[in-house]
Amino acid sequence: MKLRLAVVGAAGVLVMSAGAAAASTSHGSNDSLRSLGAKIGLRIGTAVNANKLNSDAKYTEIVADQFSTVTPENVMKWDAIEPTQGTLNFGPADQLVTFAKQHDQLVRGHTLLWHNQLPGWLTAGVGGGTIDNTQLKAILKKHITDEVTHFKGKIWQWDVANEFFANAWDPHPLADGINGDDFWVQHLGEGIVADAFRWAHAADPHALLFYNDFNIAGEDGTNAKADAVLAFAVKLKHAGVPIDGIGDQGHLDTQFGFSGTAMTQDLQRYADNGFKVALTEVDVRTFIETTDANQTPTDQLSTFAQPYEYSQMLKACLAVRSCISFTVWGFDDADSWVPGFFVGEGYADIYDVNLNPKPAYTDLQQDLQLAAHGAQHRTGSGAHS
Ligand code: G3I
Repeated sequence: MKLRLAVVGAAGVLVMSAGAAAASTSHGSNDSLRSLGAKIGLRIGTAVNANKLNSDAKYTEIVADQFSTVTPENVMKWDAIEPTQGTLNFGPADQLVTFAKQHDQLVRGHTLLWHNQLPGWLTAGVGGGTIDNTQLKAILKKHITDEVTHFKGKIWQWDVANEFFANAWDPHPLADGINGDDFWVQHLGEGIVADAFRWAHAADPHALLFYNDFNIAGEDGTNAKADAVLAFAVKLKHAGVPIDGIGDQGHLDTQFGFSGTAMTQDLQRYADNGFKVALTEVDVRTFIETTDANQTPTDQLSTFAQPYEYSQMLKACLAVRSCISFTVWGFDDADSWVPGFFVGEGYADIYDVNLNPKPAYTDLQQDLQLAAHGAQHRTGSGAHS
């Protein structure tokens, strides 16, 4: 990548030296996010669209050059792994794992236990009564065991359980904050979360096992969800359940505002209770001109708010020594999940629809560069590569 090299100017302010082509190595160009992160012991990651990997040259080059950890956006989810009961399809996920090894990247496995993207045969079987709860539990145990065993030794962090806690708008929270309407909780009870961690650990004792959710690090005004996740995770840990970390997804929207200080405090609270932490699915969406394929923000101020919120999240991670990775949920607007899920919103990523870096990219680059000059050296990523 011929990105301009960041240097610290006389006033301590970052300036970009025009035209200086960064040297490229197998560990990324000198001024890539991954190289800058490596100087302070922080892995910088992206979710990867497996369809684009190796078929879109520019996309593939950016994944290799800029990131030191990758997360499959969809291909490790159960519907992708076992579209037909008993027939396991690891091909696309294997390709990503191989790519990661070739490019000295660590893999975040995503995700083993979630209510979404379940195979059709499973939900139809449960709904139709041909799979009872005893069978469901056995099927789930087999799924987790098979998948984690297949990738044993190749996954750095697993998102074992995803999005189990109720939001303010969910109508049936349980006493401890778990969402009572969750598919798995309804059928197998909330103890299934602890079971999932135990099964994953039995299959790969060296992988770091994470609980992953959104609005659990300062984004929720009441902090109720973060409080509930912390209490639950501490309870699991005290019960001897092998849980290593808490992942905050970090999906933000400029219309809601955001406190980086609150995020730092919540991440630190998890860390103080013995958990590693990670920002796992970072993006910042805003309203866009929907007739414009470039995802141009409707409000010019959003072009400042969007990179600012990225920067705030990275700074929160940088401030907490146990924050071991900062992963964006796709790096380019063309591949973002946002326009398909939030009507009228987009511009969520750090590269534009043509794979050119946006101001958010430059802000992350500058933050990392500054951290390397001023922050305490961060060591110990927990990696077992
Ligand atoms: O694979 C099918 C394809 O066969 C079909 O033709 C096509 C038609 O719509 O759909 C394809 O599946 C889509 C899948 O992504 C793979 O591209 C689904 O419709 C689509 O809903 C699915 O969206 C994913 C979403 O999770 C599902 O909940 C997004 O790509 C993915 O970015 C998103 O990621 C989640 C994290 O896993 C958990 N946290 C929230 C995050 C954002 O929702």
